[in-house]
Amino acid sequence: MKVAIITGAAGLIGSEAVRFFSQKMDLVVGIDNNMRAYFFGDEASTLWNEQRLQEQVQNYKHIAADIRDFNAIEKVFNEYGKDISIVVHTAAQPSHDWAAKEPITDFAVNAIGTSNMLECTRLYAEKAVFIFTSTNKVYGDTPNFLPLVELEDRWEISKEHAYYENGIDEYMSIDQSKHSLFGASKVAADVLAQEYGRYFGMNVGVFRGGCLTGPMHSGTQLHGFLSYLMKCAITKDQYTVFGYKGKQVRDNIHSNDLINMFWHFYQNPRQGEVYNAGGGRFANCSMKEAITLCEKITGNKMNITYSETNRIGDHIWYISDLSKFRKHYPDWHWKYDLQTTAIEIFEFMKTRV
Ligand SMILES: NC(=O)c1ccc[n+]([C@@H]2O[C@H](COP(=O)([O-])OP(=O)(O)OC[C@H]3O[C@@H](n4cnc5c(N)ncnc54)[C@H](O)[C@@H]3O)[C@@H](O)[C@H]2O)c1
Repeated sequence: MKVAIITGAAGLIGSEAVRFFSQKMDLVVGIDNNMRAYFFGDEASTLWNEQRLQEQVQNYKHIAADIRDFNAIEKVFNEYGKDISIVVHTAAQPSHDWAAKEPITDFAVNAIGTSNMLECTRLYAEKAVFIFTSTNKVYGDTPNFLPLVELEDRWEISKEHAYYENGIDEYMSIDQSKHSLFGASKVAADVLAQEYGRYFGMNVGVFRGGCLTGPMHSGTQLHGFLSYLMKCAITKDQYTVFGYKGKQVRDNIHSNDLINMFWHFYQNPRQGEVYNAGGGRFANCSMKEAITLCEKITGNKMNITYSETNRIGDHIWYISDLSKFRKHYPDWHWKYDLQTTAIEIFEFMKTRV
């Protein structure tokens, strides 16, 4: 029997992973305690998504455990032991702004929770593939010191710079920069996950996400950029742009393309390898460009306010370079460009707001 353990199962990436791996494994066990509602309020609750999984995925079992609770996690691993083929760890406190409110909670979920997951995998299923969803915030604000040029609708990196063609690679320093407390707790987890690969020889892949997106995001002001932007475009609720003249650039990867990266890694795993994972040059936009796109798709004029103050440590320009992953896994390709993703979010969001 093959079992997949997926944490954060009702979230954007977790729920996509549940559906994907339910086709590949005999059983998918999802762990999610809806802590997203505690972080961001009922608007961001993921219960609706958990219910859909319970109703629609036959070989799915949900466990509302907290990843901070070692005993509860150990119980799950003890039950399935060596049948566990893959662990996809996506549960997290995902917002830099929220982390400053409760640094201890943030660290407990992101760092201690990851430590619990890694250690249980080592103790009960050491041959399993372990996927850790890290973040580009591990690079702190170092990308903001690249030579950027201001264009009419976006910031761009200078054409002369090595990152111009493909974006930022995994060799950028994660040290001596401002990360936000969220970035720091993710660095702790990221390095720990690498170590379980390198020190213990376990099959660990660390995926440093740019903006991860898709219709299953429970978007809210503090997290879920494209999903929340589209929601505001539909409802005409006010949306606040924070700083950088609204020209800050993000690359966006659809949750399905990301899970496909995990699948390629699973089939030919490495030990403690790190990959940047985003839309790259294939799918990226500035805030201004994203607003224009949402207005075009919804046919609505958005209600935008602008705040001069940017979010602390927020990137001005970030595009992920996926060359390393594509070299290791040449059969993987992006399927979702930005417009396709945005339309899909719109079509699904219409049925929910
Ligand atoms: N969405 C992005 O743009 C983005 C970008 C870079 C990295 N990431 C990372 O990718 C991962 C997945 O992100 P997402 O957008 O799917 O997040 P999400 O918030 O949609 O999903 C995370 C899920 O984890 C659950 N959870 C939180 N704390 C928990 C706990 N203590 N115990 C059990 N469950 C808990 C939440 O209830 C939620 O359903 C996270 O690790 C995040 O840091 C996300």
